[in-house]
Order: sequence, then C-alpha cells, then structure tokens
Amino acid sequence: MHLTTEEEHIYDGEEGWAYQTAMRILVKLGDLFGATHLIPIESAHISGVSYKTMGDAAIEFVEALAQAGAKAKVPSTINPAGLDYNRLTEMPVSSKVKEKQAKIISLYRTMGINPILTCTPYYIKKPAQGVHVAWAESSTVIYANSILDAWTNREGGPSALAAALIGKTPDYGMHRPENRKANIAVKVETELENEAQYGALGAYLGKTLKDKIPAFEGLAHPREEDLKQLGAALASTGMTSIFYPCQSCPKSVKRLETVRVGRDELKESMESLSTTDEQPDMVYIGCPHCSFSEVKRVAETIEGRKVKNDVKLWVCTSRYVKERAEFDVATIEAAGGKVVSDTCAVVTWLKKLGVDTLMTNSAKTAYYAPTMNKVKVRFGSLRECIDAACTR
Ligand code: F3S
Repeated sequence: MHLTTEEEHIYDGEEGWAYQTAMRILVKLGDLFGATHLIPIESAHISGVSYKTMGDAAIEFVEALAQAGAKAKVPSTINPAGLDYNRLTEMPVSSKVKEKQAKIISLYRTMGINPILTCTPYYIKKPAQGVHVAWAESSTVIYANSILDAWTNREGGPSALAAALIGKTPDYGMHRPENRKANIAVKVETELENEAQYGALGAYLGKTLKDKIPAFEGLAHPREEDLKQLGAALASTGMTSIFYPCQSCPKSVKRLETVRVGRDELKESMESLSTTDEQPDMVYIGCPHCSFSEVKRVAETIEGRKVKNDVKLWVCTSRYVKERAEFDVATIEAAGGKVVSDTCAVVTWLKKLGVDTLMTNSAKTAYYAPTMNKVKVRFGSLRECIDAACTR
C-alpha cells in the first residue's frame, strides 16, 4: 500500500505508539484486502463497548491507547454499552462490572469519542451521500451503505477505532464503486406485512446469498424501519454490507441471476427464528435502536393497555431519541413498559434480569439471542409482541 510521507512518519512511530499502532492496523488490513492507499473519512463508529462482549484484554488495549494520548481525528461515536445509565440502580450486575463498564466509556471519552451509546448514530447525525466513513456494527454498516449511501466497509471495533485515530481508512471493498454493484436480483413474490417479515426475509437471504449484493424487486412500499430490519437481518445471517431496494430496478439488474422468495420461504424463515412458543418474560423492541417513528408506533399500539406483572417490556433507543420523544415515552411507561437507552437486550446481562424467554420483532435479535444470551426466543411482529406483553 502506498503511504504519503506524513503517513510513513506515523507508521514509523514518530507521532507515538498509539498512532503507530492505529496506522499499522490500517496498513495490515489494506495490504490484506488489496488497498492501494488510505482515504480520508468523515466519521467513525466503534463497536465493542459493552463489557459483556468486550472482556478485559480489549479494555487493556483501549486503555493503552488512551493513556498514550491518542485522540480521534474525525467525529467518532460508540455502540451501546451493557448498562442503561438512566437506570443504573435497576441493572442487576456487581459494582465491579459497573466500574469496568464505566471505565470503557470513560476511555473512549478521553480519546475525544462521543459516547452516544447507540447503534443508530444516523438518527442523530446523518452523513452526507457519497462520503466515506469507517463504521463498525453490521446493522449500522448495511444501513449506511444501502439507505444513506455513505460508503463504509464492515469494520470491526479495533479497525474502526484505528480509523478514528488516523482519520483515514484503506481504500478497498465498499469504498470502491466497482464493489458496490448488485450482483444478484431478488424477486419477492409475496406481500410483506410488517417489519418482522422484512427481518425474516433478510435472515433467509443472508443464509442463502452469503456476501452477494442483492437488488430487490417487489418490495411494494417499505417503510424506513422495514428496510432497517431487512438489512440488520441480512448482515447477521450473512456477510452482505449493502443491498438495493429498487422500486423499479434498472436494466442491469434484470440481466442478473434471480433468486425468488415466496410465501413458503418467508413462512419457513419466520418459524426458524422462534425456538419456543412459550409466554415471554421479556418483550424486546428496539434492535437496531428505535427511531422516533418506531417509538411512536409502540406508544400508539400500547396506549390504554397494561403490561403484565410478570413480563418486562423493553423498548430500546438512543438517549437522543428518548429525550426528544417525551410524550410517547410517557405513554409506554404509563402502560408499564420501559424505554431503555445506552444498551440493548443482546449486549446486556439478560440472564441476570431473570429472562429465560425473550420475545422480539427483530430477526437479528432472534437469530443471536439463543447463543449470545442463552434464552429461548419467540419472534413476531410489533403488534404480536405488544399483545404478548399486555393483559388485554
Ligand atoms: Fe443494536 Fe443491540 Fe441490535 S447493538 S443492532 S440493538 S443487538
């Protein structure tokens, strides 16, 4: 990979160990994937924030960077942590775990990284179309490429952090126009009625297409949250980082090999995302974190109803959205639900909250929770989730 003189100085350690380490991570990645040079990025979004998923070795690495004086060169943000900082006393973990989690956030803050603790940073600030960014968190990445037209590879926590510290990323993969073209057409031959069905479609296709880039025909009028669910699931069960939901697909797509998805495939995928039909002890909406309109939809669905005494209802969103959706938050909480920020059901300690059976409208959560959280999962639409949570 070609480096400028300034980049070579950083690589050789002339600006200190932290920047040298960050530069070496980027160069190693670039060499591995055939990048020719580094390109400037507008922002970075870093995953690997929850102490539950991060562990002590990763903390030591971040601490070493922070102590060496590393600072982000571009606006940078972080994914959800393991705890809701508005509800710290309700979180059933030891004070040692709370300290470790607080330390992780404080290390990122020391490096000038904004601790927004959400996987939907784009509801706070949308990148401009066509800009290069270095984002981690697969649901955030696929949303950036497909919905926002912001160009990013699927970074891991360390490479996104390295990119934040250097302000650049290697020019390969999704940063090159030739790698962003659709290479398979998907014809959806059944009507999709809700966000859960869009997620089930994504989960089915992720397994089938692996890292292919699909262009969809036949998605009637998807809402933004439907596409968010589709992308999050597609990127969970497969490696795709971009998809095209075309209303009317261009001729180039019509010439591609076509995969057809009908009612049977959708039903099979919906069923495969449930491991139980038992009553849930937690109902979870908000993977990826809810938008304003999703919080509103939950409020409209639950208004005047009551959450069962033995069920927890979590609606996860960013602190930014929660603070600005006061009216809807009040409606949800009056019904007995909790609007939770800074964390999510997957990256917190669900078992310690007494959860054995989780119900969700997120195909991504339904896919991961049985292994990551060791819980049984029921998958259904938002309405079905609220019906299961409420007494009537
Ligand atoms: Fe976000 Fe947690 Fe889902 S980080 S994408 S809400 S698993």
